[in-house]
Amino acid sequence: MPKVFKLSHIGLGTSDFSKAHDYYVEKVGLTEVERDDTGAAYLSVGMAHHDVVLHPTSGDGNFVNIGYQLNAGTDLAEFAGMMRDAGTKAERKSDAQPGVADLVEVEAPGSQILQFYGAIENPVPGFSRRGIAPLRLGHIATITPDAERLIAFYRDVLGFAVTDWIGDVATFMTCNHEHHVINILNAPVTKIHHIAFQLHENAEHPRCADFLRASGIQTEWGPSRHTAGHNLAAYHYDPDSHLIELYTDMDIYLPELHQFEPRPWHEELPMTPRRWALEQLSAWDVKFQFDLAKG
Ligand SMILES: [Fe+2]
Repeated sequence: MPKVFKLSHIGLGTSDFSKAHDYYVEKVGLTEVERDDTGAAYLSVGMAHHDVVLHPTSGDGNFVNIGYQLNAGTDLAEFAGMMRDAGTKAERKSDAQPGVADLVEVEAPGSQILQFYGAIENPVPGFSRRGIAPLRLGHIATITPDAERLIAFYRDVLGFAVTDWIGDVATFMTCNHEHHVINILNAPVTKIHHIAFQLHENAEHPRCADFLRASGIQTEWGPSRHTAGHNLAAYHYDPDSHLIELYTDMDIYLPELHQFEPRPWHEELPMTPRRWALEQLSAWDVKFQFDLAKG
């Protein structure tokens, strides 16, 4: 089985490129590293060539792809073969996009386009001090009517672990020590539910909420502590109506024990993957203003 070790990037389509670009550069604080021939902007949190790629599109804000990094030294031809053996379309692409010399593009269940690569350039543009100025891209929540098959693909073909559920709607999965790098929501639409950036520390939550308010951006929910993952999280919308989560304090997963590292806010010890009820989104009973099932 291949070893995916981290979430690497999210590719987004936007019909109002300049508005989205302004948001991700000036409000989130990412740095543009490169612009390709199609006009796509490659934006970095601070180290890698890109963490977010904005593609100009004619339709509504569309999800383009999710990028994952494989263990260095993974044989991509062999990896592509494994994906095809699993019944998915897989195409090897060399020099197809800036920053990644060699990748395999896979069409996973639910028409989810996933890109896998062993290496990404690290031009190190530095961590900006603009706006939110996150520490890193943390996780993606994606909505698909094909959740069952997509979950099985992540688990059985890519080797991800399931770390929690919320009702029958959300399945949290990881490829490393983080509680989740992908959250798969089962609903009859195909879209990104949210994109999560980790903040440097808990004190960044009020600073970011004040900054967003001063920028005319409403915080929809939080900060509050989730149950699944126990992260302190707050949500707002980007200009293309993708929810953006800002979080800290995510649970640490110990794969060998299939448990989470003990934390003061755990109400169960040992804390192991479990199914939380839909109304248990917040450990503080802060009520969500949006419908998780509908996104
Ligand atoms: Fe999240």
